[in-house]
Order: sequence, then structure tokens, then C-alpha cells
Amino acid sequence: MFKNLMEWIEYRLPIMRVANMHAVQYPAPRNMNFWYVFGFLATIVLVNQIVTGIWLTMSFEPSAERAFASVEFIMRDVEYGWILRYMHSTGASAFFIVVYLHMFRGMIYGSYQKPRELLWLFGMFIYLALMAEAFMGYVLPWGQMSYWGAQVIVSLFSAIPVIGPDLVVWIQGDYVISGATLNRFFALHVIALPLVIVILVFLHIVALHEVGSNNPDGTDVKRKKGSLSEDEKTKFKIHEYYTSKYDIIDDIVPFFPHIVLKDLVAFSLFLIAFCYVMFFNPGMGGYFLEHPNFEIANGLKTPEHIFPVWYFTPFYAILKAVPHKLGGVICMFAAIVALALLPWIDRGRVKSWRYRCGLHTWNLIIFAGVFIFLGYLGGTPQEAWKIIASQILTIMYFGFFFLLWIYSKNEKTKPVPARITG
Ligand code: HEM
Repeated sequence: MFKNLMEWIEYRLPIMRVANMHAVQYPAPRNMNFWYVFGFLATIVLVNQIVTGIWLTMSFEPSAERAFASVEFIMRDVEYGWILRYMHSTGASAFFIVVYLHMFRGMIYGSYQKPRELLWLFGMFIYLALMAEAFMGYVLPWGQMSYWGAQVIVSLFSAIPVIGPDLVVWIQGDYVISGATLNRFFALHVIALPLVIVILVFLHIVALHEVGSNNPDGTDVKRKKGSLSEDEKTKFKIHEYYTSKYDIIDDIVPFFPHIVLKDLVAFSLFLIAFCYVMFFNPGMGGYFLEHPNFEIANGLKTPEHIFPVWYFTPFYAILKAVPHKLGGVICMFAAIVALALLPWIDRGRVKSWRYRCGLHTWNLIIFAGVFIFLGYLGGTPQEAWKIIASQILTIMYFGFFFLLWIYSKNEKTKPVPARITG
């Protein structure tokens, strides 16, 4: 009877066909390593944020009078409210940790190169939406940093010529950051942006599965139809959708169980780290929850130092490095746009850093170091040397893209193996 029921459903709604095609029998390169777990982890964190967010919304009150108190109520009186809140706040930082590692993986293995440009662009849109989501979420508890952080970020729009000041009033819904701002940020944070992120992630995965996963060798496992001998073709059971379009060499494994098991190992380790933070150190020394945010928002008292949360600080340092306000805003946006344009800035044909020139490896390692150091500078009180350091590092940040554009044209690369190696 169960089989009949499943067939009845399948005839009308191809659940099993889609599950087989995109999960169970998806052909994954067999050399996917540790760097390939972060997409899965990002998906898990996304689900965590949505589920805990729904429960928090049941007790949160989005008004300037009640927001702070309602968070205290969740922490003290709502059953398991403190767990829900810490799962959500730890999840926010965890999201950025896994997404930054996920993006860096894309950079070291050249996963943004042809034919994955659109996949990369969807990723960048997700990243932008995620930043907006995190920023608005941080305003909701209506603590001192919520209020003053919002003040700093929203006022950036005033640097836009002509329309700037009106735009700020339009965004705030008031002449200052107020309950009206909190209320609209709440609407965007709980409905609009999660919806956009979920749709973008769906498109991200569809685009990935259409062109197939890259891998640490950057060797394509799909070949033009008719180009492989019978021996070279896959021996695994993968979905005929892929074999009907391409010849697939036997360097692949079906997603289930091989990749699922690897992902589960990563998930267990991730869960240990996540639980440590959630149960023992939810504020992470002021990095995940800043100290001034345990004090209610006060429009008449500016905190001693105003910093965004750690995941925004590299871009905040770039903003601060430029003495001119509009110039700083432009540089900050250019820093994100440059990342989005990587598929076109990198003119090389070899994907993975394993087979590219030594300069490329150093360029990537230094870029990662520059990003982390900028993050440090943007998240600590300003001093004279730090301004100079952030200016040098900002030049180095853009220098990464400039150098890449120059050397990738006629780069001396190592021979890329025809088959996956490790
Ligand atoms: C909510 C955030 C995100 C989720 C849930 C997500 C999910 C995924 C998943 C499940 C995969 C396949 C598994 C893997 O390769 O790790 C993937 C691949 C990929 N993602 Fe994301 N992603 C997110 C954000 C991003 C961002 C911000 C970028 C970059 C701008 C990005 C770029 C890529 C690329 C290039 C691949 C293909 C990698 C390859 O095949 O080598 N993703 N993503």
C-alpha cells in the first residue's frame, strides 16, 4: 500500500526524482576535501537561524519601549528561551565563519571560473543579503550597540550626493533612529530578507548542479559526450540526467553515502564548537555579543567606542581608512564588488592553486592575512598607527585583485592532470 501511495504521489509530484537527482545520485568528485564541507554547514546554520528565529519572534516585541525588556523576558522567563537566543546569536557568527571559509575555498580552487560565474554571483548576492540580515537583526535587541551601530551605518547613506539626507530619513522612517526604524527592521529581518536568502540559496544550488561541482584539482569530471572510452565512464549509479548530458569519468562518487558521511563528520565537529560557545561562552569575550549591548539603547549617551560585530570589521576598517566620507563608502562597496567580479578579474585558465604559479599562492595567502588584519583594525579603538596601517592594508586588499588581473593573463602554470589525483 505504501509503495502504491508513493507511486501515486510521484506521478503527480516528482519528489523522489528530484531527491535522487540533487542529493542521492548527484555525481560528486571523489577528491572533495575538508574545504568542501562549508556549503553544507552554511545550509545547516541557515535552517538553525530560521527555526530559532521563528520561536524568538513568538516572544519578542518590536517596539522601542518593549524590545530590550522582551529579550530579557526571553532570557529569564520563557521556557528554554535562553537556549533559543544563544542558538540564534551564536548562529549569526557561525554563519559568517562558515561563509568566509566557503568563499575562500572558492578562491583557492578557482570555483568562480567558467562555467561557475553565475554560481559565484548568486553567492555574492547571498553574502550581501546576509550582511543586511545580520545588521538588522543586531538592531532588534535595542541595546546601546544596536542603536549606535544603526546610527553609524544608516548615516553612511547621507554621504550620497543630493538624495543622501532624504534617503536616511526614508530608511529610518523618522528623523532619528527610533521605534519606527526598529519596527521596519524587524519586518525586513523576519520576513523579507530570509525569503530572499532562501530563494538565492535555492538558485545557488540549482546553478551548482547544472554545471557540477569543482574540486581541489580543478579537473572537470564531465566531458563532452562521446569523448570517453567505456572504461573511463563512471561505474557508479548516478542520475541519468547527468549521463544524458555528458560523459562522466569514474572520478566521481554518488553524493549519498560518500559525501553525506564526510559532511556528517564535519557537522559533528562543528556541533562541538557550536555547543561550547552556546553553553559556556555565548558572548565570546564581546566578539559575538558586544558588552555595551547589555545596556538599553540611550539616544543621549554615546558608547565610548562604536564598532560593528567582528564579521563587518574588515570593511569597516576600509571605510575608516579613507578620510573622505563618500570616498570611504565607495571604497567599502568597491571592496565587495571586486570580490563579485573575480570571475572576470582572474584571466587564468587553470583553476586550482595547486597548479598555478607560486605568486598566486602567495597572493591568496597574503589576501587572507590582510582581510584578518583589517578585521582586527576595524574592531579595536582607533589610534594613529592603526589609521596608517588600515590605509596600507586597504591598498594591499585592492592590490590582490590588481596583481591577479596582471599575472593571470600569461601565467606560467603546472600541467593540470587529466584525471583527479588525490
Ligand atoms: C547561505 C549561504 C550559502 C549557502 C547555504 C551555500 C551553499 C552551498 C552548497 C551546499 C554548496 C555545495 C557544497 C560545497 O561545495 O560546499 C555550495 C557551493 C558553492 N558555493 Fe555556496 N553557499 C552559500 C554562500 C556562498 C557564497 C557567499 C559564495 C561566494 C560568493 C558561494 C560560492 C559557492 C561556490 C563557488 C560553490 C561551488 C564550489 C565548488 O564546486 O568548488 N556560496 N554552496
